[in-house]
Amino acid sequence: MSKAKYTITAALPYANGPLHLGHVAGVYLPADIFVRFLRMNRHDVVFICGSDEHGAAITLRAKKEGITPQEIVDKYNKQIGDSFKDFNISFDIFHRTSTDLHKETAQDFFKKLHENGKFTQEISEQYYDEEYNQFLADRYITGTCPKCSNAGAYGDQCEKCGTDLSPTELIDPKSTLSGKTPVLKTTSHWYLPMDRHEEWLRTWIKEGKLNGVQQHDPKLWRNQVNGQCMSWIDGGLHSRAMTRDLDWGVKVPLPDSEGKVLYVWLDAPIGYISATKQWALDHQKDWKDYWTGDRKLVHFIGKDNIVFHAIIFPILLKDHGDLILPDNVPAYEFLNLEGDKFSTSRNWAVWLHEYIAAYPDKLDELKYVLTAIAPESKDSEFTWKEFQTRVNSELADILGNFVNRALVLTHKYYDGAVPTLGNLTPEDEQILAEMKAIPARISKLVYAYKLRDAQAEAMNLARLGNKYLADNEPWKLIKTDEIRVQTIMNIALQITANLSIVLQPFLPATAIKLSQFLNFSNDDWTIAGDANLIASGHKINNPSILFQKIEDALVERELASLEASKSVNSAAPEVINTPQKEIVSFEDFTKLDIRLGTILEAEKVKKADKLLKLLVDTGIDQRTIVSGIAAHYTPEEVVGKTVSVLLNLAPRMIKGIESQGMILMAEDMERKLSFMIPEKGFEAGGEIK
Ligand code: MF3
Ligand code: ZN
Repeated sequence: MSKAKYTITAALPYANGPLHLGHVAGVYLPADIFVRFLRMNRHDVVFICGSDEHGAAITLRAKKEGITPQEIVDKYNKQIGDSFKDFNISFDIFHRTSTDLHKETAQDFFKKLHENGKFTQEISEQYYDEEYNQFLADRYITGTCPKCSNAGAYGDQCEKCGTDLSPTELIDPKSTLSGKTPVLKTTSHWYLPMDRHEEWLRTWIKEGKLNGVQQHDPKLWRNQVNGQCMSWIDGGLHSRAMTRDLDWGVKVPLPDSEGKVLYVWLDAPIGYISATKQWALDHQKDWKDYWTGDRKLVHFIGKDNIVFHAIIFPILLKDHGDLILPDNVPAYEFLNLEGDKFSTSRNWAVWLHEYIAAYPDKLDELKYVLTAIAPESKDSEFTWKEFQTRVNSELADILGNFVNRALVLTHKYYDGAVPTLGNLTPEDEQILAEMKAIPARISKLVYAYKLRDAQAEAMNLARLGNKYLADNEPWKLIKTDEIRVQTIMNIALQITANLSIVLQPFLPATAIKLSQFLNFSNDDWTIAGDANLIASGHKINNPSILFQKIEDALVERELASLEASKSVNSAAPEVINTPQKEIVSFEDFTKLDIRLGTILEAEKVKKADKLLKLLVDTGIDQRTIVSGIAAHYTPEEVVGKTVSVLLNLAPRMIKGIESQGMILMAEDMERKLSFMIPEKGFEAGGEIK
């Protein structure tokens, strides 16, 4: 049988903000592991991604940052693309949906479906913001979720409970533009009549069959994917608008459609196709080979994208007529961070680009931990403590220790030349049998999208080697049985060579290091398990330490920086729709002693990235205040500034410093903090009433 061919996609990230570890663990890293594995197994594979540059996610962000949508997508396409490159995610192309090629592709796709009668045109009443003269689709409208009562649900989705919504379902809807209650107004749109598709979708998802022909193995689809799809279908599929009244997006390619663009969830998945086209152009290939015929299309996504990839896009692909449907849609649950959800708005996140900048030599460490805790079947959690434990006790103590012993002893006893394999003991035989079995076990797990277990199996090979050396203690045996030690060391080196292969999909940089140490390199998965990868007499190179231990200081620093962002953010109001706090009496208000103070001195607080220690002249005294503004201001910038200070806040110990008050800050559109600085002519001591 010829090898399966694959087209692998990773969800196109919105170009509206940087990537955090949740995105990495739940889409990009697993997709990359899968693809690296396929390449090593000589499958024909193309790995597609790009940025999603349309939709309200972009225009609302642009409004917030006070720049144009184009500037927003240019900025974040670059930042996200750079992070992927730095993190060594091996896309064949990272494209973007704002290109002409994409727009044409999406328009042609839409036109074809329109011409073939796959859409209906419907007139409906939709919410409209009279102040902004704009219809309010999707994220332009918020309100209370009818399912879970979350007050900040969007017009298309409640992010809290994951329910898919339409604007009219929201309780107490509000425009995110003006904050006002919108009015209803009629408009005309093209709809995808999904009800027409219920029947085939049901059999296709449940049994993997289309027109009686087996397409995919439904047992390989994750439960949560089947579950979400079935509950959607069982609830009855409805027509869904495929166009929007907006000026940012791909223009509807039909007459009389002024001011209308394609729905972002129509345009974005077509981005996979346009990205393939661009890649094909760049490499003298035919894009159609990657979207038709005998080929597996696999979409790596987060769970909030399931229905778009497992129901809506498949309908569109099938309606198009000649394109393949996904073979699998491996969806990931969410990763949490230190007991709370990742949140861009609250800055509760570990940002990929910041991690890379801070720890450029610890990328595989992060990959290892994120794969080990990946939210494959349920939500999981990243903590810095677990990061430390896994790096230290698994990567350093097991993998690093084993490799180091094997290589250092080879240099010590044999001057770096691989010794000969002599007679095997039953224990040796067993070790070699285990080593042989591991690659097949990993393969089985990877093809079943169980990458977490697959990585654990690869680490088992290191465990095996580590235990083998610890049990046999060649460093003692060398005094009494030199011949036996040769065999032990040969086996240890064969295990190391095998590690340089089986670790490649998961820890590519580490695998390269192993190859350099061993002076042996091979990226053919099918030879993994072989007990004679390196011949006796083969010269190896000098090793260096594979993994440095993670110090407590790193964990403390990262935790402090998260904590500081929490206190900074809780001091500032949420920009959109935070309900008003409880009423306070005038008497209560007058208890607050807010005055102007001048910053006399400022310095960074050690081990806390976000904190500055300030000496402030309040007009009545000079006092120390610790403020979480170091991410926004350098000490030099703040000295001499006159700022608002809450004087009579009970003193608090922050990082061992007593803080005697609080600097009041205002949050701008970018959620950057600025001082509430009065206009000129004020000085320390002035009261704020
Ligand atoms: N931008 C979307 C998100 O971040 C994902 C789009 S995936 C694609 O949730 F299918 F539309 F490409
Ligand atoms: Zn909800």
